[in-house]
Amino acid sequence: MAVPRALVLHGPNLNLLGTREPGVYGRTTLGEIDRLVREHGRRRGVVVEARQSNSEGQLIDWLHGAEREGFLGVVFNPGALTHYSIAVRDAVAGIGVPVVEVHLSNVHAREEFRRRLVVTEATRGQIAGFGPASYTLGLDALLAITRGGPPAAPARRPRRR
Ligand code: DQA
Repeated sequence: MAVPRALVLHGPNLNLLGTREPGVYGRTTLGEIDRLVREHGRRRGVVVEARQSNSEGQLIDWLHGAEREGFLGVVFNPGALTHYSIAVRDAVAGIGVPVVEVHLSNVHAREEFRRRLVVTEATRGQIAGFGPASYTLGLDALLAITRGGPPAAPARRPRRR
């Protein structure tokens, strides 16, 4: 059987990580985040492919192609598009594979304009505020919903001694 694959998408300006507003986003580069999440996936038996674009249309095309390309789902940081792109929201809502939204920063605790989240309601859920770990947590969330989550609790209680 083919090894499952997950798609990680990074939106606008995330290529600048490492030097972009380090007080908010830290010093970890995008390349380091991609290595981290790929390694995390490898330990869980999933091949992670990561892509970044500053173009809304390119991100939408990748979302549309995710199922056709055989990805089980998408871990997606839409960057600022999160706050205003109805086109990205509609792409997320229109595809057949689950999308988990991630953010490095806690968007709920920042400027007022970041509290408007138009993409989020179309995603399966959001993880925000944990720096690069948001991506590995996002991948775990994607695997939990696509692999049926952790093993079920035993049907019968263990016998008391
Ligand atoms: C971000 C949060 C967005 O508000 C911002 O526009 C970004 C990065 C994050 O990962 O914290 O570009 O998505």
